Amino acid sequence: MEQIRSFSLFYLSFGYVSCLLCNVALHRPTTSTSVYYTDAKNIEGNACNAVDGRISTNFWRGSCYRSVDDDHYPSMTVDLGDIYDIQHVDFALREDTLRYEYYSECFNDCKSEKLSNFKIYVRNETSSHSKVCGFYSDFPTSDDIGKGIIVNCSSLARYVRVKKMSEDLQFCEMKVIANIPSASSCPKPPQSWYCRDLCYDVNGSNTCPQMISVE
Ligand SMILES: *[C@@H]1O[C@H](CO)[C@@H](O)[C@H](O)[C@H]1NC(C)=O
Ligand SMILES: *[C@@H]1O[C@H](CO)[C@@H](O)[C@H](O)[C@H]1NC(C)=O
Ligand SMILES: *[C@@H]1O[C@H](CO)[C@@H](O)[C@H](O)[C@H]1NC(C)=O
Repeated sequence: MEQIRSFSLFYLSFGYVSCLLCNVALHRPTTSTSVYYTDAKNIEGNACNAVDGRISTNFWRGSCYRSVDDDHYPSMTVDLGDIYDIQHVDFALREDTLRYEYYSECFNDCKSEKLSNFKIYVRNETSSHSKVCGFYSDFPTSDDIGKGIIVNCSSLARYVRVKKMSEDLQFCEMKVIANIPSASSCPKPPQSWYCRDLCYDVNGSNTCPQMISVE
C-alpha cells in the first residue's frame, strides 16, 4: 500500500514538472474599444501591438496598445484560439517619456494613468457571459519600471479582456501565461498574422515610409 502511494505521488510530481508555461497570446487576433492615433508620427496604438512579440516599451516605436483619450471604459481583447489553463497575465509598461516614468505621478487631472485600476475578464465564447479573473487596483511603482507587472488570473478560458475603469489604457507587450499539461513544446503562434497593416507585412518586415522609425 505504502509503495503504491509513493508511486502515485512520484507520478503526480512528474506530471507537475512536465507542465509547460507558455505565452498563448502571441500573434493572436485582438480587438479594442478604440485605437489612439496621432498624425504627428503616424503611429497608432493598435491592440495587435501588445501581442506582436516585440518587447519595446516605447510607444513611439509602434509597439504598444493605447486607447483614445475620450474612451471612458477602454478595453482590449485577445482571442487565444483555444481554451487554455490561464495562470497569469504579464504586462510590459510603457516607459518612454520621462513624465510618464512613475505611474503614480499626477498628470493633468490626476486620473489613473495608462495601466492602473483595471480588471481582467475571461470567457469561452464571444457571446457568453465573462468572468473577472484578475484585478489590479494599484499603480505600478518605480520598482515595476523595466520589470512590468503580473496579474494572477487563474481560469480556463479562450478570450481575455483587459478593461480599465477610466480613460487612458496603455500597455506594451502583454503575455497570457497558460499551463500546458504534458506538452514538450508551446503551441505555435498562427503563421499568418497581420498587424499595423500600414507598416508590417506578414513576416514582420517594416514597410513604412522611411520617415517613420519603428524598432
Ligand atoms: C470554459 O470552458 C471550460 C471547459 O468547458 C470550463 O471549465 C470553464 O469554466 C469555462 N470558462 C469560462 C470563463 O466560462
Ligand atoms: C499570484 O500567484 C502566485 C502563485 O500562486 C502567488 O505566489 C502570488 O502571491 C500571487 N500574487 C498576488 C498579487 O496575489
Ligand atoms: C514571407 O516569408 C516567406 C518565407 O520566407 C516568403 O515565402 C514570403 O514571400 C514572405 N512574404 C513577404 C510578404 O515578404
